[in-house]
Amino acid sequence: MLQEELTADLRHLAAELDELGENENSHAPSFPSIPDFEPISLLGIGGMGAVYMARQISLGRDVAVKVLSSHGTLPEEARTVAQLHHPNIVQVFSAGSDATTAWFAMELVKGESADRHKFASIEEVARLGVSVAEALAYAHRCGILHRDVKPSNIFVGESGTVKLGDFGLACLAAANEKDKSGTKRYMAPEVLDGGKVSESSDQYSLGVTLRQLAERVGSPSPDFAAILSKTTAHDPSCRYESVNALLADLRRFLAHEPVAANPPSPLRRFRLFARRNPIAAFGIVAAVLLLAAFIAALAVGYVKTSRALEATHQEAARAAQSLAATMTNFDRSEQDPRDTELRRALEVAESLAARFPDDETIKASVEAIRKARERRANLPRRPRGRKSTPLNTPSRK
Ligand SMILES: Nc1ncnc2c1ncn2[C@@H]1O[C@H](COP(=O)(O)OP(=O)(O)O)[C@@H](O)[C@H]1O
Ligand SMILES: [Mg+2]
Repeated sequence: MLQEELTADLRHLAAELDELGENENSHAPSFPSIPDFEPISLLGIGGMGAVYMARQISLGRDVAVKVLSSHGTLPEEARTVAQLHHPNIVQVFSAGSDATTAWFAMELVKGESADRHKFASIEEVARLGVSVAEALAYAHRCGILHRDVKPSNIFVGESGTVKLGDFGLACLAAANEKDKSGTKRYMAPEVLDGGKVSESSDQYSLGVTLRQLAERVGSPSPDFAAILSKTTAHDPSCRYESVNALLADLRRFLAHEPVAANPPSPLRRFRLFARRNPIAAFGIVAAVLLLAAFIAALAVGYVKTSRALEATHQEAARAAQSLAATMTNFDRSEQDPRDTELRRALEVAESLAARFPDDETIKASVEAIRKARERRANLPRRPRGRKSTPLNTPSRK
């Protein structure tokens, strides 16, 4: 355990040294004269420039000001970033530039960046993934790419709120080779090959980020590993079709539902269902086993005498009744079986009805299960991931 922690710390340190090495030649651009803003302290130096804590005098608030060296006019895209408003995005307040510098005043985030944060579990990493994917999906809907998703651009706030910063700013550093090498490990292969950044390359960078954060926690479960592999597929057409689809899969993972990246076998599918709804699962297993035993006994011709047949018949009717009760109580018991479970139950009950065509109890059970199935089909769909407790999943419309 201790050794694992030490190894993780060493790896972390190595990554930091690596990044420092990349930045060793970059000197911090000094704070430009910006009306209404007064520098307080230097927060840090990154690949693109320096970030200062500053006071916005008119509003009496502290902000973070990012200063980038030697850029002329602000690209149009950098301006549109200020129009993004999202709980998981570091808000940009204002921006400006002169002949030698460009600067952005933004929300001062209290907390630490994800590369410094100690994650307690893979689930915590997945919840961070949900928040960042929410931010990216929103930005993509607004037509804005991030271009530089990496742990140091993700903040874990004091209350656990996750925020993605430096939106679209990478375009300002396109000419800066130093920066390019600094974030190379998060770049999609098609971008490294000189291709264009895209929603899919943002997704890729998020995948590499999550993998790196997860590595520090332990080995990911097969489902989470499958999500990471799909997100970081070399071929963009093998990734999720959108960040939204990745978001949905992360939520499924957190809710212990089958994930699209790793389609489960019927058995595993049932196990996941059982984990979510243990009581219903127990009822289904018990009832189906019982019925299967009766059907097998009948089929084998084991039950020959009319007395034994009568006893079997009564047991079957009781089992059909209990199966119907399990299957039809779901909306009251908050346990919502999948349609496959209902269909299977219906098949079992129908085969019993075929064997005992005159039995009213079995007939009624078939009817009850059939109705349950229809009712389920008409139920409003529950939101995905209702059992998860994401760090910060804003309820947006
Ligand atoms: N909005 C902010 N609020 C607080 N600290 C910030 C903010 N933006 C950046 N920082 C801090 O400033 C330092 C430099 O940031 P940046 O230039 O973006 O570096 P990087 O290339 O590592 O992303 C980092 O340590 C980061 O934590
Ligand atoms: Mg940054």
